[in-house]
Amino acid sequence: MPAKRIAILTGGGDCPGLNPAIRGVVLRAEQLGYDCLGLQEGWKGAIDGAHMPLNRSRVEEIVRQGGTILGTSRTNPYKKDGGVPAVLATFKSLGLHALVAMGGEDTLGVAARLYKEHGLNVVGVPKTMDNDLSATDYTFGFDTSVTIAVEAAERLIDTGRSHRRAMVLEVMGRHAGWVSLFTGIAAGADYICIPERPVDAADLAAKVKAAHARKKVALIVCSEAVDMGEAGAEKLDEFGHMILKERGVGEKLAKLIEKSTGIETRHAAIGHIQRGGPPTLFDRILGTRVGLKAAELVEAGSFGRMVALRGNEVVAVSLEEATAKLKTVPPAWFSIMDTLTAAR
Ligand code: F6P
Repeated sequence: MPAKRIAILTGGGDCPGLNPAIRGVVLRAEQLGYDCLGLQEGWKGAIDGAHMPLNRSRVEEIVRQGGTILGTSRTNPYKKDGGVPAVLATFKSLGLHALVAMGGEDTLGVAARLYKEHGLNVVGVPKTMDNDLSATDYTFGFDTSVTIAVEAAERLIDTGRSHRRAMVLEVMGRHAGWVSLFTGIAAGADYICIPERPVDAADLAAKVKAAHARKKVALIVCSEAVDMGEAGAEKLDEFGHMILKERGVGEKLAKLIEKSTGIETRHAAIGHIQRGGPPTLFDRILGTRVGLKAAELVEAGSFGRMVALRGNEVVAVSLEEATAKLKTVPPAWFSIMDTLTAAR
């Protein structure tokens, strides 16, 4: 009897750690007697059937590679005419036993529906640099992207101090402020802006002025999704999310700071630079562990589940519950931000 087949796909924004996770699935699946293949470019490949073989020799050296060897897209089968029947047809024509879908709330939301509505054998693997999936403590991709952003922030401090300027670093993170929060804390920012907390212009000006007086430089880290009073004008993607790249929050904030403090201010948006490059140690280990566990869930017939990090354990949780609600920054973090950025 031929070996059962597992397909893997990676959907949504890429992030470092996807390749270690793919390697983890393939190596454990092979050990358990399965064959693997990769569907290309997320749900797009599940619709059109484009795929590539995956085996030990293809994946054994990818642990250090950023991006995803499978390609990705923001295609949503539920938003394409005939999309869902095409996914079901691909399952049949490729003779798939199970699908391991790696993604954030969007990709995994589709996986949850396909399981619930069509009984598809799916297992979810959470990934996102935004770290905004509520059922897991951390997602791989977050550690690497924040590490890169912290390095960028430290470079801005150097040049900012030389010129006696305030420097604004805009980071990604979509609707959740985790990337901005952790970057700001780790880089010693003087003000941190996150979408969960409205910007208090007077507090911002006071803190920037005080920091600049003490250190001859001030660093402000802001999330791309901070509301600067112009929400609603953006374009939406297939999953209904704002396309944030043209909002220019960092630039607007820099203008506001310069006007309210009289301190010359520059801004930089790190953008996709923080999503590329080799994964950190943390993301390599987490990606590997959740990949291994996903193959074990297939073997156990635990479908409709997502692997999750809880404490230091990798466990299985319900895919439906995992995708029901975003994990945003709770107010408990606000007092930590205030302590670290006090205007004294
Ligand atoms: O969701 C991950 C993410 O990197 C967000 O932080 C960001 O808003 C978005 O993707 C950017 O998407 P794209 O790569 O499609 O421009």
